[in-house]
Amino acid sequence: MKGDDLVLAALREAEGFLSGQQLGGSLGMSRAAIWKHVAALRNAGCRIESRPGLGYRLLQSPELLQADDVTSRLTSSVFGRELLCLSSTGSTNDELRRLAREGRAEGLAVVADEQTAGRGRLGRQWVSTAGVNLYLSLLLRPGVAPAEAPQLALLAAVAVALGLEDLGLEPEIKWPNDVLLKGAKVCGILTEMEAEADRVDFVVVGVGVNLNSRASDFPPELRDKATSVLMHSGAKVDRAAFLADLLSHFELLYEQYTAGGFAAIRGQWEMRCVMIGRKINVNAGGRIIGGICEGIDTDGALLVKGRKHEPAQRVLAGDVTVLDGYMKARD
Ligand code: BTN
Repeated sequence: MKGDDLVLAALREAEGFLSGQQLGGSLGMSRAAIWKHVAALRNAGCRIESRPGLGYRLLQSPELLQADDVTSRLTSSVFGRELLCLSSTGSTNDELRRLAREGRAEGLAVVADEQTAGRGRLGRQWVSTAGVNLYLSLLLRPGVAPAEAPQLALLAAVAVALGLEDLGLEPEIKWPNDVLLKGAKVCGILTEMEAEADRVDFVVVGVGVNLNSRASDFPPELRDKATSVLMHSGAKVDRAAFLADLLSHFELLYEQYTAGGFAAIRGQWEMRCVMIGRKINVNAGGRIIGGICEGIDTDGALLVKGRKHEPAQRVLAGDVTVLDGYMKARD
């Protein structure tokens, strides 16, 4: 990190004021250097208060998502109307689950500038660099059976794809819900639910979209499998505008789903699926199922055609590898 970023990160972490001496001591810089970096940050749009005897306090930085910036652009009427913008949290999914248990209503959205314990599927970590990407969790209280809840993740993948298409991109979807740009993963979705035997209490849809991260933000082992919009197209994305657009797409799709069931989503998912007609291997809990991907069933299960005269196998959960080498984003 360069000096400006180091000072900004320290000010972000601080609860209140930090003196020039404290900042200089922890960052190994002189007080004059701190003053220079603070001046540069102010030039870049940060509002930093300075008080004699107390030091510096960050009031606002342009990289922080502000609820007003999002809500002023919203066209949805439920999703995101209640929006909690956090500068840092462990996982937005955890934060939202806590609020859901308190009885908060469907549509509540939690976003964070940074996650310190961002989670992916199958217990993996989700790289959640501060200030550059979208880390979003949405609260749903759908009137569906627990077995149908995974369909909501497929719906979310379509919503993200539509948001990326609005940026002029051509995203593809990999079952169940990874969104790819030229074969590299740009978005992951993690849905978690609380339910009784036959009734869903709530579903948390967690969406991570790599908008402005750079290759250096990813650990070396992910650099050829993950991408961001910035890495893919060179264009920086306005996170608030993207979020507002995504929430609108999500709401529209959710209305279609509520009215028409998964049939209303299936075609929109399949037309963006990168795997149909390709040779794939699915690792379904250690069992490898190989064959040609035929698409998804009426309930969202993956259809894999193995032998010619046998019906396609239905897969409810698993990790897919496309065998023709096109795909970089293998989990
Ligand atoms: C995956 O592809 O493995 C799913 C990644 C999901 C990441 C998002 S970021 C917002 C939300 N909070 C989390 O901790 N995870 C999800």
